[in-house]
Amino acid sequence: MEVQAPLLILLVTLLLGLLYNYASSPRKGSAARNLPPSLPLFSLLTAIAGISWPSAPSLADINHLLHRLQAFRGPITSLCLPFCTAVFISDVDLANQVLVNNGSAVSDRIRPSTPIHRHTPENFGVAISPYGEAWRSLRRNLVSGFVTPSSTKHFAGARRQVKEKLLERFTSEAAESAGIVNFRNNLSRVFYSLLVSMCFGRDLDDRETVELDRTMKSMISESAVLLFFSFLPRLIQKVFSKFLFSKNGGKHSAGILLHLLKNGRDHLHATCYADTLLEFELPADNKGGGKRKLREDEILDLCAEFIGASGHNTPIALEWIMAELVNHPRVQGRLAEELFLLGRIDGDQEMTSSPYLRAVVMEGIRLHPPSPSFFRLVGKEFEVGGYAVPKGALVFFNAASMGVDERLWEDPLKFFPERFLAAGKNAKLMAFGGGRRMCAGSESAVFILSYFVAHLVKEFEWRPTAAQGGEQVDMSAKMDFFMPMKTPLRACIVRRDNKNTNKTA
Ligand code: HEM
Repeated sequence: MEVQAPLLILLVTLLLGLLYNYASSPRKGSAARNLPPSLPLFSLLTAIAGISWPSAPSLADINHLLHRLQAFRGPITSLCLPFCTAVFISDVDLANQVLVNNGSAVSDRIRPSTPIHRHTPENFGVAISPYGEAWRSLRRNLVSGFVTPSSTKHFAGARRQVKEKLLERFTSEAAESAGIVNFRNNLSRVFYSLLVSMCFGRDLDDRETVELDRTMKSMISESAVLLFFSFLPRLIQKVFSKFLFSKNGGKHSAGILLHLLKNGRDHLHATCYADTLLEFELPADNKGGGKRKLREDEILDLCAEFIGASGHNTPIALEWIMAELVNHPRVQGRLAEELFLLGRIDGDQEMTSSPYLRAVVMEGIRLHPPSPSFFRLVGKEFEVGGYAVPKGALVFFNAASMGVDERLWEDPLKFFPERFLAAGKNAKLMAFGGGRRMCAGSESAVFILSYFVAHLVKEFEWRPTAAQGGEQVDMSAKMDFFMPMKTPLRACIVRRDNKNTNKTA
């Protein structure tokens, strides 16, 4: 079931409205606490209504909205919901104080009943495990085997295969349609092959890729909807999830993942994630100690999480970065020039040695964080900015607004990768979260993005289509739990003359 953002907003608004009276009455113990300034529902809705949204909100609109909210309530606010208090942080310094200085108090997460993690009755995964020994060891297994810079070399063959397939697809589509290609369609038809190689150690045929793409997309969009309801007790979330989503979805994805787990690991591409999970021993989180093997359904949850975590955010980021390059021929030209000077860019070493390439990727992620906000569960009351944040609260970090905060970034709405060539800028970027539970795959994501951007720019020059009249690509965002481009990127590609990368053949 595809759930649309308006439906979602309507549901959330109705729910909040119905429960607002209850929520606004002081709760046991909370009156005494100095909570962050409250964000009354009425002001929130007025601020949203006060904006003349175009067909879809653009970055500037979102920036505008956040500024208006911050202007009258400040960078830390709270909203009393019926079952918990939500705290919103939109300032990097406050976010760092919370994520780093109070790291242990905010290292927990809720365990939502999302389709990705629903192969097990209790929902299982690195991202949703309570803070403790079991989480630490699951995360270590993922990071050490698959997402460190040194482990990226194991999958060089799979990456090259996928890159070649992608270039072939663009070449043949361009030949049939006057040079114009649909970026998203082509990418999603090949990207899952790379993830399946890393996760299950085998290749996918075209039919399997299409099926996995469809299944993962629907699981992710359903999971994203459920995350909006995270403030509700688990039982209500389960009822919601049963009511909103098809019963067969979970069985279908389990069928595909089980098939991949059980059939034909050819180990073409080194040890895969599933292999490590079959060997993995899970430490008990209680004091009794002891270890046990993972159950099959737990392995399916972890594999779905691996494919979901990388398979959604990374292509969204890649599409935004390529769209910015279409709109900024100067940046694209400088990048092409640097890649040309580096020569052969298949090797990991050459790839990571281009500071400008990395700067282009980071700048794209700053302006268009695929996950515009992330949240944590407070395990222990703490203080920040003179306010108390109570145990059980959910703290939301607004990575999108921090990325365009004019106190941190000069001319924040401008795509200007050069800013990342200066030291220290990465520390201000919140798109991957921060602290102990920061994105486990951030380095791998930046590497994969750099790899594909480099090859796409080295091979082709990317221009606006004639239909756009040489105008800029539409950069409106689709506001959701994730933030993809509203209109899929279409661009005109021209093969580069690789003797001089700035010229086209
Ligand atoms: C552009 C790509 C990506 C973006 C923008 C992104 C963003 C994020 C964010 C914002 C969080 C929450 C962090 C926090 O709470 O502080 C997160 C968590 C996580 N991400 Fe990513 N991510 C990306 C790619 C990946 C990849 C490639 C993987 C690899 C499997 C991955 C695996 C995870 C995991 C396992 C967590 C949960 C970490 C934990 O709870 O310990 N992500 N990601």
